[in-house]
Amino acid sequence: MTTALDQLKEFTTVVADTGDFETIAQYKPTDATTNPSLILAATQKTQYAKLIDDAISYAKSKGGDASTQAEWAMDKLLVNFGCEILKIIPGRVSTEVDARLSFDKERTIKKALHLIKLYDEAGVSKDRVLIKIASTWEGIQAAKELEAKHQIHCNLTLLFSFPQAVACAEAKVTLISPFVGRILDWYKSSTGKEYSSEEEAGVISVQQIYNYYKQHGYKTIVMGASFRNVGEILNLAGCDFLTISPALLKELNESKEKLTRVLSPEKASAKSQEKVTFDEATFRWELNEDAMATEKLSEGIRKFAADGVKLEETLRNKLA
Ligand SMILES: *[C@@H]1O[C@H](CO)[C@@H](O)[C@H](O)[C@H]1NC(C)=O
Ligand SMILES: *[C@@H]1O[C@H](CO)[C@@H](O)[C@H](O)[C@H]1NC(C)=O
Repeated sequence: MTTALDQLKEFTTVVADTGDFETIAQYKPTDATTNPSLILAATQKTQYAKLIDDAISYAKSKGGDASTQAEWAMDKLLVNFGCEILKIIPGRVSTEVDARLSFDKERTIKKALHLIKLYDEAGVSKDRVLIKIASTWEGIQAAKELEAKHQIHCNLTLLFSFPQAVACAEAKVTLISPFVGRILDWYKSSTGKEYSSEEEAGVISVQQIYNYYKQHGYKTIVMGASFRNVGEILNLAGCDFLTISPALLKELNESKEKLTRVLSPEKASAKSQEKVTFDEATFRWELNEDAMATEKLSEGIRKFAADGVKLEETLRNKLA
């Protein structure tokens, strides 16, 4: 009997959800991700000192005032980590744009171009990088321009709702990563109820997004993320990509349960969902109507931003 993990891999690209080099090396996922939170944790480890020292001396060589240098150091450090990860994976690495730019389209574009330039200087082609941006209206519009004008691939994150997914598809972004478990967290804490995997709002939301994309021929890849249990994953079997934590990968690997494919392009075309479109005003309205998505998006941005600030402080101290 094959494992549930092997069966899942037959129709879904499985990615290990970890930014830890050792775990990446162990699980050998196709793709991987970095962000200030993961890097902040890594900066405490001595084996990464070289990457930090390099970023610091790079920033110093560029000159400018303290905050300019800190920004250089931070960008360079993200890219240094990305380059290391690319040495051990065959696919692409996601690199995050500073969450403090989440409501600034022009500065998001500028930041993305800068990160890609640093990758290029390090000999890494933009085809191996995904720029990770929060799914705000401004973020999605920035991604639209990066994809169309600069052929830079984007991973739109902190995605909790259908309007965000539709706007991303219309912007022709490469990949979206809707968060399943964080949606469950919100419902559990606001209603106090328990939910079975089939009735979880996060699972239903990703099923709806997948079916809508396939039915209307959108090429944007759906990558389900942030899982709390195996049941959520089994109910999304067939999704384009799923990024799964090492603990849940292990559980799937130990299970011999027979898997049924829930999502497929054929099944999607049988479900008819009317095509919709969102301009800025309707996007903002629909998102605001959804308390869960509004709160989770804001919270996610706040947390990423706080880690960005902490990382910047660490680098400022090293620059001084
Ligand atoms: C896209 O971003 C999500 C959320 O941060 C991350 O979990 C995922 O690994 C990224 N996807 C790829 C293909 O890099
Ligand atoms: C799955 O289990 C097998 C044998 O028990 C082990 O060799 C393999 O490394 C495991 N794979 C993953 C991804 O955990």
